Amino acid sequence: MLIAGNWKMFDGPDPPELAARVAGIAGVDVIVAPPYTRLVACVEAGLTTYAQNVHWEPQGAYTGEVSPAMLRALGVRGSLVGHSERRQYFGETDAGVARRAHAALAAGLDVIACVGETQEERDAGDMETVLRIQVDAVRDACGPHDRLVLAYEPVWAIGTGRTATPEMAEEAHAFVKSLLDRPVLYGGSVKPDNAAELLAQPSVDGALVGGASLDVDSFAAICEAAAAVRP
Ligand code: PGA
Repeated sequence: MLIAGNWKMFDGPDPPELAARVAGIAGVDVIVAPPYTRLVACVEAGLTTYAQNVHWEPQGAYTGEVSPAMLRALGVRGSLVGHSERRQYFGETDAGVARRAHAALAAGLDVIACVGETQEERDAGDMETVLRIQVDAVRDACGPHDRLVLAYEPVWAIGTGRTATPEMAEEAHAFVKSLLDRPVLYGGSVKPDNAAELLAQPSVDGALVGGASLDVDSFAAICEAAAAVRP
């Protein structure tokens, strides 16, 4: 079971305090994805640390971007790619996400590649089509790489307090796995009080937690729920 905290553009909790709090939770791989400015503090605290994004070139004239080699030099273990906020607000495409994922894996980073449909796409009955296009892009670039994990994050559930039901999550995860046989995390308003039922679904291999990862107690409670589901 894998629980990843996406701090987004927040400073997030105190890394040593968080590291001490989650250290004793057995059977759960805990990951934090802080903003770039907090990467070193998280690495130094002994947390398994991911960036929130990564470029495909080792270096170059790409203002505002950070390369896989630069992250590795800091002791960063992996990176998110394709988060819906990158796709929505920064124009990231399936092709770009696939390039980022491929380059990161090739450079030795682990990758969590995010996919998910919007409310409009779900309402139009296009969920599977959207997921297929997004997952196929990553699959064609990376294959079922052993350091690749996917995250299913329905856009309508991110930061909204609206969570997919366990049945909805299970259905989408099973579909994603049928396209690319890798672990799939659920993301979208995961909280201590809904984590256990989501994580209990057979095709849910962990969670990508946004808002609730900013609070040490909430994040630790989600990690403990994961440990209890599949000890
Ligand atoms: P949320 O964010 O838990 O705040 O909904 C999840 C994410 O965006 O990864």
